[in-house]
Amino acid sequence: MTSLFRPYYIIQESEMAQPLDYNRRSRLKHVDQVFRSEIINIIPLTDMEKLFQLRILDGAERERFSFLPGQFVMVEVPGYGEIPISISSSPSHKGYIELCIRRAGVVTGILHKTRRGAVVGLRGPFGTHFPIERMRGNHILLIAGGLGLAPLRAPILNVIENRTDFHDVHILYGTRQPDMLLFNYQYEEWNRISDINLKVIVEQGDESWTGPVGLITDLLKKIRLEPLETYAIICGPPVMFKFVCAHLQREGIPMDRMFVSLERRMHCGMGKCCRCNIGSTYTCLSGPVFDYWTVMNLKEAI
Ligand SMILES: Cc1cc2nc3c(=O)[nH]c(=O)nc-3n(C[C@H](O)[C@H](O)[C@H](O)COP(=O)(O)OP(=O)(O)OC[C@H]3O[C@@H](n4cnc5c(N)ncnc54)[C@H](O)[C@@H]3O)c2cc1C
Ligand code: FES
Repeated sequence: MTSLFRPYYIIQESEMAQPLDYNRRSRLKHVDQVFRSEIINIIPLTDMEKLFQLRILDGAERERFSFLPGQFVMVEVPGYGEIPISISSSPSHKGYIELCIRRAGVVTGILHKTRRGAVVGLRGPFGTHFPIERMRGNHILLIAGGLGLAPLRAPILNVIENRTDFHDVHILYGTRQPDMLLFNYQYEEWNRISDINLKVIVEQGDESWTGPVGLITDLLKKIRLEPLETYAIICGPPVMFKFVCAHLQREGIPMDRMFVSLERRMHCGMGKCCRCNIGSTYTCLSGPVFDYWTVMNLKEAI
């Protein structure tokens, strides 16, 4: 039977090795296809965040669906709206994708009340990605603040799966309080089994907290960096990556070796609604992943 839908946009192998392309509008095609997807599992992470596992219902579409670390999907809850959410799972995982969603308002609120078996719409993947290929053979800093671990988890899993391709890998993660930490059931695995230096810090400890208290930059000060052989990925609130990037820059890491994920309010995800722009730059098309040099040249980006 002929599909009513046009085939959707798939990133080709040859494109992955190319430098980041900050003008993707011409390459965005067929992004209006909606994949009906079932929520197959919901894992509570904190009071505010849940991890949703979603499986595209059509087997052939599920097999063809591919994304790169840092990209996002638009999640449609029929009757309520559509929201952008970063993909938190590994790109090599074909059976389902994982989305870590914070309860913020209407659509995320409905999703938090949803049960397993519910069907939602997915569009995408959209946006630029972290250039992991380019980082091979280097030291890697993976830095997240708060909900920033949601977009950072895809590159973390990607680096772990190809661990021998990288030298030292550091994950630095900070939240306000211990009960806000995401994915804490995976820290042991990341740290010990995958030979990664994971350090977690909170701004305010409680009676159960035995780890360090302070800011991510306090953790950074303890790491000996080889700046010209290091790449950094930073996800979190703008105020955090402003300080983190300034610190890394002082340490000598070139601005084009630091990558951040800039999130703006988005509606269409494909350069049509003008909701996400910074000046003349649409963050849904040219981002959300930018190198720090580009961010500093975008007026009022942070
Ligand atoms: C590229 C991208 C990736 C994202 N990835 C994730 C993710 O992995 N996990 C996750 O939980 N959230 C993520 N977000 C934020 C998420 O899209 C919003 O929280 C969501 O759209 C809120 O929808 P709502 O209908 O529940 O809230 P609304 O009812 O629309 O709004 C409720 C509150 O949330 C605020 N809000 C709405 N959209 C945003 C936004 N984009 N950024 C900050 N505040 C917002 C509003 O100002 C308002 O105060 C991402 C956003 C972008 C642009
Ligand atoms: S989200 Fe519509 S133009 Fe970017």
